Amino acid sequence: MSKYDPYENMLAVLENAAKKAGLEHDEYSFLEYPERELTVHIPVTCDDGHVKIFEGYRVQHSSRRGPCKGGIRFHENTDKQEVKALAAWMSLKCAVANIPYGGGKGGICVDPSKLSEGELERLTRGYARAIAPIIGPEKDIPAPDVNTNGKIMNWMMEEYSVVCGSAEPIYAVVTGKPVDKGGSLGRTDATGRGIMLVACEMMKKHGMKPESTTIAVQGMGNVGSISARLLYEKGCKIVAVSNSKGGIYNPMGLNIPAVIKHLEQNGKRFDGYTENGLVNISNEELLCVDADILVPAALENSITADNAKNVKAKIILEGANGPTTAEADAVLEANGVEVVPDILANSGGVIVSYFEWVQNMKKERWSEQTVNEKLAQTIIPAFDAVYAAAEEYGVSLRVGAYITAIKRIIGK
Ligand SMILES: NC(=O)c1ccc[n+]([C@@H]2O[C@H](COP(=O)([O-])OP(=O)(O)OC[C@H]3O[C@@H](n4cnc5c(N)ncnc54)[C@H](O)[C@@H]3O)[C@@H](O)[C@H]2O)c1
Repeated sequence: MSKYDPYENMLAVLENAAKKAGLEHDEYSFLEYPERELTVHIPVTCDDGHVKIFEGYRVQHSSRRGPCKGGIRFHENTDKQEVKALAAWMSLKCAVANIPYGGGKGGICVDPSKLSEGELERLTRGYARAIAPIIGPEKDIPAPDVNTNGKIMNWMMEEYSVVCGSAEPIYAVVTGKPVDKGGSLGRTDATGRGIMLVACEMMKKHGMKPESTTIAVQGMGNVGSISARLLYEKGCKIVAVSNSKGGIYNPMGLNIPAVIKHLEQNGKRFDGYTENGLVNISNEELLCVDADILVPAALENSITADNAKNVKAKIILEGANGPTTAEADAVLEANGVEVVPDILANSGGVIVSYFEWVQNMKKERWSEQTVNEKLAQTIIPAFDAVYAAAEEYGVSLRVGAYITAIKRIIGK
């Protein structure tokens, strides 16, 4: 089997959507290429005194609708091809959400769990200096992604401000900052909240009641654990959750707040967590449990041509970016599984990042309630636009989302 290439995956859907929408190749061909790709090498003095060189990237896919926007990933398997795909998905996601941003993404090939706090800070500051020439509040605004967080964003913001010779912190250069460092209330929960809101819209479309809806969530990081908690609070039965260390299943419904507390107190391990009716499952088993809705919220490429046929859920809400391969999409569609695509389902994060940037630019501070209300007022119309496009062109929600995005980017 050839190696999964997320950029090829993005291109396959892009071409299909553009054809379904009757677009000429010349109208959208620019979307097949990123505007700019930067590779950087960051020397870091390790705690034992030796210098290690890390490779990092920042890719700007499109700035047609506004400054590029997208997260920074620290992962040992990150490479340029992955970052390119993630950048393109950001252009499409911002267009679906109808916020005035293009798309970008960054990453460093590193396993951050192997670095000390000091090494992580020196790496982050070095990366910020290396990409400083191409980022900025009106050019390209990074944010957190896998294995990066508010603390890392604050280091980036501080370093960028130093490079620019600014006496004041330039808060608007990154989003996802801690609340006391120019961050927005509601940002931490935003992606999970968006998933919950989209899930509620899907349930309404299908006449499903939250109390009788069962859900499985893969990945219990920021996106997975917050989606699970908010859907649990809506009354849904979360029957299975997993992370890179394993998974648990309880057909009666898991006590999600207790699971989250256990993971926090036990090094993210499920070992020792007990409930009546609970069984341990593998990640592969999680994808195939009996549940109405499946939320893959770990990494890309988890639902493949091999396992898609075993998925029992009738709705998949993509919390992660690119969790379903193009081949798996075809299998799911043939089996009547509706996939709410990443560029819609997980757009809550970038929507609230946009609100954070607006607050920084205008020197305002909004209440959490205001942020949550504005999130709902943005993501629900995005859902409606995608649903309408899917119906108009007789296509899947993924293709409907791409059509919505491409048409907005090319101004049609
Ligand atoms: N954080 C955001 O605001 C945001 C916004 C949009 C999209 N996303 C996407 O959501 C996904 C998750 O991001 P996050 O911020 O929650 O990251 P995170 O690092 O907080 O969590 C990732 C989770 O996935 C788990 N995981 C890793 N490998 C796994 C495997 N093979 N099987 C099962 N679980 C596995 C980890 O244990 C962890 O629980 C990524 O694809 C990211 O690009 C994140």
